[in-house]
Amino acid sequence: REIPLKEKSIVFVGFMGVGKTTIGKLVAQKLHRSFIDADSEIERKYQMPIPKIFKTLGESEFRKAEKNLITELCHQNLKVISLGGGAFLQEEIRDVCLSHCIVFHLDLSWEMWKERLDMLIETRPVLQGRTIEEIELLFQARRETYADHHSKLITDQLSEEEAANYIVDSLK
Ligand code: S3P
Repeated sequence: REIPLKEKSIVFVGFMGVGKTTIGKLVAQKLHRSFIDADSEIERKYQMPIPKIFKTLGESEFRKAEKNLITELCHQNLKVISLGGGAFLQEEIRDVCLSHCIVFHLDLSWEMWKERLDMLIETRPVLQGRTIEEIELLFQARRETYADHHSKLITDQLSEEEAANYIVDSLK
């Protein structure tokens, strides 16, 4: 059966550090839904932080776990789910999210994002060992993978609370 729009899970996509988890949690609270952070679920499954999963099991193992988890989550309704920034690189994840859920792309300008780099680098293996120029290229290239979405919000001028309110209103 076709899932009514009001029951569809909401999925947040976007680059590392744009606020998917923080804003996702706020949206879930406001909608009285449960919140799931895909990265935290994977960390719980392996009982290791993500940098350690990358180091000991490898990125491909992480990507497999990510695909299995997200595919399962997307078949559940009435959830708010934040994905890791690399999840949408996988076509199967894009397809399952776009067909079962409402996909929100959270975006930020490069100018604002780069101010957050220092805060992110330690916990984001994908950013480690890259120059700022390489990170900017990655940032721009990844944007294209997030272009498949149902709605997009640029959060440059918004607090997290304002962004969450805007999203909740847009769903009414
Ligand atoms: C990744 C983003 C991270 C996490 C992992 C890989 C990526 O999630 O899934 O470090 O490839 O962009 P956040 O977007 O929550 O940082």
